[in-house]
Amino acid sequence: MPSLAEGIYATTSRDSHGQGSVSRVKPEMKVSLAGLELASPIIAASGTFGYGIEFEDIVALERIGGFVTKGISLQPIAGHAAPRIVQTAAGMLNAIGLQNVGVEEFIRRKLPPLGRYPRANVIVNIFGYQVAEYIAVIERLNQAEGIAAYELNVSCPNVHAGGMAFGADAGELAYLVHQAKAASARPLIVKLSPNVTSIAHLAKIAASEGADALSLTNTFLAMSIDSETRRPRLTNVTGGLSGPAIKPIALRMVYESARAVSIPILGMGGITTVEDIVEFLLAGATAVQVGTASYADPRAVERLARGLESWCRSHGVAKVSSLTGALEIPHD
Ligand SMILES: Cc1cc2nc3c(=O)[nH]c(=O)nc-3n(C[C@H](O)[C@H](O)[C@H](O)COP(=O)(O)O)c2cc1C
Repeated sequence: MPSLAEGIYATTSRDSHGQGSVSRVKPEMKVSLAGLELASPIIAASGTFGYGIEFEDIVALERIGGFVTKGISLQPIAGHAAPRIVQTAAGMLNAIGLQNVGVEEFIRRKLPPLGRYPRANVIVNIFGYQVAEYIAVIERLNQAEGIAAYELNVSCPNVHAGGMAFGADAGELAYLVHQAKAASARPLIVKLSPNVTSIAHLAKIAASEGADALSLTNTFLAMSIDSETRRPRLTNVTGGLSGPAIKPIALRMVYESARAVSIPILGMGGITTVEDIVEFLLAGATAVQVGTASYADPRAVERLARGLESWCRSHGVAKVSSLTGALEIPHD
């Protein structure tokens, strides 16, 4: 991990507060991660960016770090009945139930138009109810062109089988990651569940079974009740909490995991500002994902990518990658 003096302020001098002066040099915003070259460390998160192609007129898909598709399963999934989204004090609850078109339709209809953006990193999020389903999806996707990496969703809190069950059980996680890595022709990112006692323990297991990178966190299991009707607001009763409410917890989990493993981490959870991104990078993330913020502003990912570049310039940061893990903990 670079020290501030070595890495961050390479093109600048430091003032009395340890800040670099404004650099005239364009900061290097590229990062590499699990064999991928990202134009920016900011990626759109799964479930909040469709299959990517829906955003082609809104976001410059090759200027952001990439995007993660909706979770893809072997068969199409209709998802839960509405209401399946509820606003909360500082975020939202969702219980979409992994609605998606299934792997065949994804390859036939959703993937080909993305060929218009050959430099975009298309990361496919994969979900299964059983290990065999995850593997079948990976094997089918291996035959398709235009995919940069897979993100294994072992952490969805909104389904009654699979999903979080894998991410919360060390033995099941180890078996699934091992099998998925053996089947995968592409870099394998494992998206961990935050609904566990020790995230560092599970991060180590995923890394030792061959994960090329980790994504964390997914949403936190939660619920909302309407006091007038005395009913749950979500048809599924419980759902996943995302948005600014979860940021401090997600940040702590990224910090703990980054200290436990040496593979790169994609940090996420409640990012809405450039400063949020910098916090995740300092905590040890190599890149970040932005999810709920795209609901409020569909251009959020690109806006934040531009904002992060300005932040680096105004803080004299020559290479954004030098922020990763550069947290300074004062000692007495
Ligand atoms: C409506 C919605 C749908 C989501 N669907 C998925 C999904 O299919 N697969 C997955 O791994 N994560 C899914 N997520 C989780 C996000 O990718 C992300 O991990 C989480 O929301 C935390 O980031 P945020 O606070 O920036 O939204 C979904 C989140 C939301 C809000």
